[in-house]
Amino acid sequence: MSVVTIVGAGHVGVVYAAGFAELGHKVSVIDIDRARIASLRRGRTWFHEPGLPELLARGVRRQRIAFTTSYKVGLARAQFVLICVPTPISTGGSLDDSYLRQAFAQIRANAGHPAPIIVNKSTVPVGTGDAVSSVFAGDGVRVASNPEFLAEGRAVDDFFHPTRIVIGAHDHEVAEAVATLYATLKAPIVITDPVTAELSKLASNAFLATKISFANAISQIGDAIGADGEQLTHVLGLDPRIGAGHLKAGLGFGGSCLPKDLAAVEHLARSFAAAAELFSAVAAVNRQQPARVADHILARFGSLIDRRIALLGAAFKAGTDDIRESPGLALARQLVELHARVAIYDPVAGARVRSEKREGVVVTRSALAAARGADAVVIATEWPEFAALDLPAVRRAMRGNLIVDGRGVLEAGRARSLGFDVVTLVGSRHTNTPAAR
Ligand code: UGA
Repeated sequence: MSVVTIVGAGHVGVVYAAGFAELGHKVSVIDIDRARIASLRRGRTWFHEPGLPELLARGVRRQRIAFTTSYKVGLARAQFVLICVPTPISTGGSLDDSYLRQAFAQIRANAGHPAPIIVNKSTVPVGTGDAVSSVFAGDGVRVASNPEFLAEGRAVDDFFHPTRIVIGAHDHEVAEAVATLYATLKAPIVITDPVTAELSKLASNAFLATKISFANAISQIGDAIGADGEQLTHVLGLDPRIGAGHLKAGLGFGGSCLPKDLAAVEHLARSFAAAAELFSAVAAVNRQQPARVADHILARFGSLIDRRIALLGAAFKAGTDDIRESPGLALARQLVELHARVAIYDPVAGARVRSEKREGVVVTRSALAAARGADAVVIATEWPEFAALDLPAVRRAMRGNLIVDGRGVLEAGRARSLGFDVVTLVGSRHTNTPAAR
């Protein structure tokens, strides 16, 4: 059992807190946001993550997790301090490490003795681990980079079944000490230097982004020449060298990680005169996906003035209420710019969209309510309830009959037999896909 302090009660920090408590460690969570800490104390997470509230409640019940806004209190007996603060993109395109620096300053001022090992889990500008080591040089503080690979919506499962644990440290003993935190999990552990660990995280997300844009680009070709896009990516995925994951064509990737880390890799490539074109092309294909749908809808109606579009799904993917960089909301923005009226329904993220008060957009409480009077329905998030839509009822509620399946969840043949005009983004000779711009 180790005493672990987690700095940052975000998606990553809270999952690690609950997970480490389950593994038997004693955990303190520090966050400067009082409201967050207050709700976590009541056992409530401030975001949607399946299985997390139960896991967290168990840790709290067993008195293995405490929450505080005070660095002094939270760091009192820490052997390890996990940094889980956000690193957004700065205006110059590099990762913004200002939250990270604030956290380091607080740790420096408040850490007890003996000094804890500082474990950085935030996705950071490459080289941060070395920079941090030099900040703490002389303080006896030891530092490691230990990137996280949790995907939202399945983060609890990812915590207990990691595909790999990467620990970057110059001091092998420090890396071994960090590895003990995960001793009961079965996963390959890669011990390396901090720069390699940090770049491995960015590269993993950039590669996942590349696979998705590749699938989207191939689906466009497939559609143009009459190949079945779904079968195409199925064939690709059967090759273990390619792998089936992240090959699903659709509205494109969003969220707080893939777009940001792809941009960070592109920025690095530009800084070091490496092949940045690869990464900018991946981003460009991704930007085109919502635009292709907007163009298709516009072409279908000639003008979107007074047209009503129902957008089913605002979360950047199913299983989360996170709407950051949501491709569906990017599409909504474009449709509103074209003067359409957009009704959005999302089973989990609706409240978040409503609270943002987006112009030209209403948020409804059901898919049917969004579809009422709509000229077109667009499925933007792969929520299971959209695969099980009551299509005859949707058809009756709508004014038009266009349905755009942006996530490949519908049985297109069945929808067509019910009188829908079906468009998918997977590129299939059985369906018509919006042409590339
Ligand atoms: C991603 C990585 O998958 C995690 O390994 C990583 O730890 C995490 O970022 C992070 O850096 O913290 P996440 O952003 O939660 O996780 O979501 P993904 O499941 O990777 O999906 C990202 C986007 O790609 C979503 O918008 C999703 O709809 C889209 N996607 C995914 C596709 O369009 N096609 C696919 O085949 C898969």
